[in-house]
Amino acid sequence: MAVAAWLLVCASLLFASSVSADSKNNPADKLVSVLNSNRTDSKLPALEDNPGLGCIALQYIKAYQGRCDEVGGSDAKKPQDAEFAQTFAPNCGVQVSTLRLITGRLLGCQSEYVSASEAFSNILIRNERGLQILRSKNHTEVGAAVSGNDGGAPYFWCVLFSGGKSNNSFVLEGGEAKKQHPGCFSGTNDDCSGAHRHQIFGGALIIGISVALGLAFGL
Ligand SMILES: *[C@@H]1O[C@H](CO)[C@@H](O)[C@H](O)[C@H]1NC(C)=O
Ligand SMILES: *[C@@H]1O[C@H](CO)[C@@H](O)[C@H](O)[C@H]1NC(C)=O
Ligand SMILES: *[C@@H]1O[C@H](CO)[C@@H](O)[C@H](O)[C@H]1NC(C)=O
Repeated sequence: MAVAAWLLVCASLLFASSVSADSKNNPADKLVSVLNSNRTDSKLPALEDNPGLGCIALQYIKAYQGRCDEVGGSDAKKPQDAEFAQTFAPNCGVQVSTLRLITGRLLGCQSEYVSASEAFSNILIRNERGLQILRSKNHTEVGAAVSGNDGGAPYFWCVLFSGGKSNNSFVLEGGEAKKQHPGCFSGTNDDCSGAHRHQIFGGALIIGISVALGLAFGL
């Protein structure tokens, strides 16, 4: 009992420090900037941060309904292609006619919240496959999202890449994404700490599951 209480105290301290470090920033914007500096360090062009695509990345996370085990492993699932036009775009206010091909996806989930740079190197780009997706010449734009399930653990990180041109792809009606809760997405320059505001620590034992996939679908 005493041990459990002590773990809880440690967890709250960790939580407090992570909130104060991140509260003025948007972890999804940070993820894009980490990713783009990794590309430019390898002499690849930086990708346009498209808020419509970022919002869709957050919808993509929500489609898992907090089921981390469906992100990777033998039980891996992915949302149906049709969901982009039927659910994700309307929920964001993205004009369906401006949906473009997704040229790659990085998705990871675990019970502990970590910073954007840790998520990038320890969860999303853990192997050669992830690096290949990151460095594909087919991408021109990117959208990222970070969210807990209902604000708590488990936490999801999602990066979607596309080959569209930013002024005519994933265009938001009225120029602004519909409000999303919980979670943060890139491209809006909004402060967002909503990814882990109402955190309930998932326990001392951390289970990480992640997957990096290249995919392409027709819309
Ligand atoms: C890009 O990120 C990967 C994964 O963290 C790392 O192995 C690689 O060294 C990075 N590349 C550069 C140029 O920083
Ligand atoms: C780029 O796109 C082409 C055609 O869609 C595909 O055959 C190729 O595998 C893609 N390259 C990468 C690195 O994903
Ligand atoms: C979109 O950008 C391209 C090149 O960057 C330009 O040629 C085109 O006119 C732009 N379209 C609109 C609708 O602004």
